[in-house]
This record gives sequence, structure tokens and C-alpha cells, in this order.
Amino acid sequence: MKTTAIISQKGGAGKTTLALHLAVAGHLAGYDTGLIDLDPQGTAETWGGWRQDEPPNVIGAKAATLARTLDKAAKAGADLAVIDTPPLAQAEARAALEVADVVLVPCQLRIFDLDAIKVTAGLLKSMGKPAFVVFNRTPSRAPQLYKQGVEAVAAMGMQAAPMMLVERAAYHHAEQEGKAAQELDATSKAALEIAELWSWLCMQLAIKARK
Ligand SMILES: Nc1ncnc2c1ncn2[C@@H]1O[C@H](COP(=O)(O)OP(=O)(O)O)[C@@H](O)[C@H]1O
Ligand SMILES: [Mg+2]
Repeated sequence: MKTTAIISQKGGAGKTTLALHLAVAGHLAGYDTGLIDLDPQGTAETWGGWRQDEPPNVIGAKAATLARTLDKAAKAGADLAVIDTPPLAQAEARAALEVADVVLVPCQLRIFDLDAIKVTAGLLKSMGKPAFVVFNRTPSRAPQLYKQGVEAVAAMGMQAAPMMLVERAAYHHAEQEGKAAQELDATSKAALEIAELWSWLCMQLAIKARK
């Protein structure tokens, strides 16, 4: 089983959005996917509840027992786990980092947000896991802004993913219906962005984009 953790000390960065869109992408690609909700607020679990029995399987978990939760999921046949974490929670972020093959750090391309991920950068440095910042809620067509973002995260010793997720109503429209954007309209721009992110993540995880 491959595991990806979504962490960021900042609330509203897009952790849950990234986690549930990637978990749906994994499921649609034929992988048995578990979306692990480490956030005590349980946003991903609430979204999972709206889906009733529609995969991916959403599993509430605690930092102290995360390894056991993942072990159980793997034994039950899961191929992929995507872990959503709360903001400002060292214990959960550390627990997720420990088990992750690849770590994604969503971040808005704004100075306060870039400044706030210094904390996450410090945590990542101490764990030594492959980690990438994913710029989220960006303006469309903003190559210059992307370049500045890449430089800012490089100065913190981090790498940025080669694509960004633009601010699009499709993301939150889908979420409030218990869906991901690619399920509402597989040809939407949001769906295409997620497909691109998913293909790239598969390369990082060394798995095929379709099972
Ligand atoms: N790319 C995006 N475009 C539009 N809305 C977004 C985007 N990413 C996140 N959002 C919205 O922003 C809010 C916060 O995102 P969320 O994923 O819950 O952040 P976090 O889990 O880091 O606190 C949510 O309402 C979500 O729907
Ligand atoms: Mg969240």
C-alpha cells in the first residue's frame, strides 16, 4: 500500500480539498483507496457520510493509532491511503509524516501563507520525507506568481509540484454535494487539474496512473 499525507499548519490551505480529490482520483483509477481523516473536526468524514457507501472508504483515525489503522486498511486490501490532517497539530502532522511515502503541502500563493509554511518546512526537514508544496487557489495563468512561489519554497528547502490548482467554484460546489470535481464534470478545468496532479503523484509514488 502506498501512502500520501497532506499536511500544512495553516487552516484553509486546501488540505481536505486535496485529500478528497486525490482519494477520488485513486478510486476512479482502479485503486482500492482509503481516505484517512486525522482531523478531529472530521471534515473528510462528514463528506464521506454524504456519499453514503460510495468509495473511497473514509476512515476516522487518531495520531497515536495511525500505524495500526493503516495496517488494517492494507490487510483489508487497500492499495492507497490518503491522509488528511488538521492545522496547527504537531502530533497528527508528525504521525502522518512518519507513515507517508510522499507528502503534499497545499499552500496559497500569498505572502502570509508562504510565510506560515515555514513551520511545516521545519517539520519536514526533521523527517526527511519526499515532500512537495502544491500551490492552491491560485489565479489562472499566473506563471510569474508560480515562479516566485517556487523560489520562496526553495529558500525554505522545499520543492513545489509542477502544477497548481486554480481558485475554482467547481471544487467547493462538488464538496458540498459530497463529491469531487471530477465526479461532477470529468471535463471541467478542475477535473483536468486534478487528473494532472494525480498522474504526477503516481510518478512520485512509483505506481501506474491506472491500476
Ligand atoms: N482551488 C480551490 N478553489 C476554490 N475553493 C477551494 C479551493 N481549494 C480549497 N477551496 C475551498 O476553501 C475552503 C478551505 O479548504 P479546505 O480544503 O477545507 O482547507 P483545509 O483542509 O486546509 O483547512 C473550502 O471551502 C474549500 O472548498
Ligand atoms: Mg481540512
